[in-house]
Amino acid sequence: MKNRIAPTSVERSLTRDSFIVSKTDTKGRITYANRTFMHIAGYSEHELLGQQHNILRHPDMPRAVFQLLWNTIKQGQECFAFVKNLCKDGSFYWVFANITPDFDENHEICGYFSVRRMPNQDALKVIEPIYKEMLAAEQTAGARDAVAAGTQILSSRLQEGNTEYEPFVLGLQG
Ligand SMILES: Cc1cc2nc3c(=O)[nH]c(=O)nc-3n(C[C@H](O)[C@H](O)[C@H](O)COP(=O)(O)O)c2cc1C
Repeated sequence: MKNRIAPTSVERSLTRDSFIVSKTDTKGRITYANRTFMHIAGYSEHELLGQQHNILRHPDMPRAVFQLLWNTIKQGQECFAFVKNLCKDGSFYWVFANITPDFDENHEICGYFSVRRMPNQDALKVIEPIYKEMLAAEQTAGARDAVAAGTQILSSRLQEGNTEYEPFVLGLQG
């Protein structure tokens, strides 16, 4: 399901000790959401279960971030990312997300988990301009080349900092 919600500039915040938890199937459809998830995003359990996780997708998020996320978790690895999410009423909230694959008894991926916490506010001062630059590059490149254009910006910024994606985001969150 694609979002048709008009984003507003109203920000919601997680408290330091709250965690947003969800589980999905292998296709990214929500199979579990905790109360904190429902409370902050403004959806009932009924509205969330079975929906694609992109129900929360905020238009300010670069596509390349989600591509990186899916590439990483599909390979059986965990992924960390700063994500701006869209609430049902158009407001937004930032999170620092950890997404991990869930394995069945045959060691096949049977779904994914995500646990999100309050992001470090100083980290967002670094991340937001990078995401803005990535998004602009993606929009200029057009749909077909968007992910490559966004990825190129992210790679350049990481190279300039002489770092790689995971140490970069973990270092920012602290
Ligand atoms: C466990 C899990 C949690 C996810 N959490 C979010 C999330 O909080 N916000 C979000 O926009 N996308 C999240 N995604 C990624 C979405 O599945 C999707 O790739 C993303 O929203 C981009 O949507 P699009 O591919 O339709 O452009 C999550 C995926 C998984 C597997």
